[in-house]
Amino acid sequence: MDDVLRAIQKRQSARGPFDCRHFINAQDVQRILEAARWAPTAHNMQNFEIIVVDDLAILEKLAEIKSPITQAFIEENYRQLSFSEEKLEQKKVGILGTMFPEFMRNPTVKPKPNEQTASFQGRLVKASPVLLVVLYDPHRRAPASEGDFLGIMSLGCVMENMWLMASSLGISCHIVSSFNDDPAAQKVKTLLSIPNNLQIAFTCRLGYAMKPARDLRVRRDIEDFTYSNRYGIKA
Ligand SMILES: Cc1cc2nc3c(=O)[nH]c(=O)nc-3n(C[C@H](O)[C@H](O)[C@H](O)COP(=O)(O)O)c2cc1C
Repeated sequence: MDDVLRAIQKRQSARGPFDCRHFINAQDVQRILEAARWAPTAHNMQNFEIIVVDDLAILEKLAEIKSPITQAFIEENYRQLSFSEEKLEQKKVGILGTMFPEFMRNPTVKPKPNEQTASFQGRLVKASPVLLVVLYDPHRRAPASEGDFLGIMSLGCVMENMWLMASSLGISCHIVSSFNDDPAAQKVKTLLSIPNNLQIAFTCRLGYAMKPARDLRVRRDIEDFTYSNRYGIKA
């Protein structure tokens, strides 16, 4: 039982470069896909498809796709950042601002021309041994799930299963959401021949990290989010 908890606690985001000469063996990729296969999905709809991208020429083209960073993203992101480890430890929610370029952590700094898009992730994508592009079909949904709410929750289960499997194999994982929305999503779809009825749920880079991730990781305490019998009543 403790092993499961330890595996859950050990899983973490890797946002640095991967060693592009250290390939992931095919058996390990299969293990990660097997973990996706057994994810719980609402009504067992298995509403996902996964493209395993390991062709360098395609990775290079994906890396060139730029996704504009909107002002709305910058503003909301800014509100959620902590600017020191102490502040983050106190807040217990959100992430540390130092992982973003300066214009995203200081509203008075204007982005440089090459920073106006999320292309700064491009070099990371290019040097990833494997990129998984997870797709979903919003029409393959559980009954009466307006907005495909249950389907989207199911994709979270797929993500977590694959992430835990990768982590247990010593393979790092970085979720890249910048390919989800247009115009980037449309370009990814064209490049990977993804049919129109499918949408990109998330993309994740898999590989062996050059350096261990050292980001401070915080969580709320259990009593911060639990109640006894009625909302608002603390045990
Ligand atoms: C749905 C989802 C989308 C995410 N998108 C991104 C992303 O685009 N870029 C990124 O660096 N991390 C992304 N993350 C990772 C979270 O930022 C990370 O899980 C969180 O900060 C907690 O850190 P940990 O994974 O190390 O525990 C995403 C995570 C989830 C579940």
